[in-house]
Amino acid sequence: MTNGIGKQFMHETKPQFAEESQQHQGLPQPPLELDYDPAAHLIPLLEVGDLPAYALDLKQAMEQRKTLRSYQEHPLTLAELSFLLWATQGIKRVTSRPVTFRTVPSAGSRHAFETYLLINQVEGIQPGLYRYIALEHALLPVKQGEAINNQITTACFDQHQVRDSAVTFIWVTVLERMYWRYGERGYRYLHLDAGHVCQNLYLAAEAIQSGVCAIAAFNDDEINRVLGLDGENQFVIYLGSVGKR
Ligand SMILES: Cc1cc2nc3c(=O)[nH]c(=O)nc-3n(C[C@H](O)[C@H](O)[C@H](O)COP(=O)(O)O)c2cc1C
Repeated sequence: MTNGIGKQFMHETKPQFAEESQQHQGLPQPPLELDYDPAAHLIPLLEVGDLPAYALDLKQAMEQRKTLRSYQEHPLTLAELSFLLWATQGIKRVTSRPVTFRTVPSAGSRHAFETYLLINQVEGIQPGLYRYIALEHALLPVKQGEAINNQITTACFDQHQVRDSAVTFIWVTVLERMYWRYGERGYRYLHLDAGHVCQNLYLAAEAIQSGVCAIAAFNDDEINRVLGLDGENQFVIYLGSVGKR
């Protein structure tokens, strides 16, 4: 391209990773996933091969998808939750580099998110806060009890769909996983990545007769405090409430 716009575009898209990035400096890649107590009891999820078909024509899923903020008082099954977690962050392959390839794309396959779940109504799971351990396809209990619902709903400016959801997905960024390669530019990629994740949640939810509300209106400091995140290297980027239509 020879015109000015083309040059600008080429300039913006040329760097594959930032010159000043930690990767460029030869620093080791951050772990693929946050640590947890190895003695913790993980709740296994259903493997994708063992799930029902949840068949829905893609065209129909896109056609009927709409934001849903009122839900039936009807729980999700553990199979349905397993499906939604697989659809949003499920790992298909871990390479020797190591890098994860998942059901959603991610810039440089950095996959800088952890999924926390506010579980209110899922069959066989106590209400509370959980973290999805993607490498094990399992749930890590973080905080039991119903009080956490109130705290998270309040941090989301009292949006009732959080309180009333069967489960609310809370996507947390681990900045160093993205910045290691891309430096500051990675801040942009995080938000693009988050959109892909939530879109998969919207579409997958259609196949289990459920609906989603994407949520970006929340008090950052408050929600990070509730989740015990430092707000700098780890912070909430986006949420999605889910419930039966
Ligand atoms: C980035 C983003 C943030 C959003 N945040 C909220 C939110 O905090 N609360 C809410 O009720 N809806 C939220 N929404 C949902 C939009 O309001 C909704 O997508 C829009 O009204 C279009 O409706 P549709 O999804 O049914 O097509 C958000 C959507 C996006 C994409």
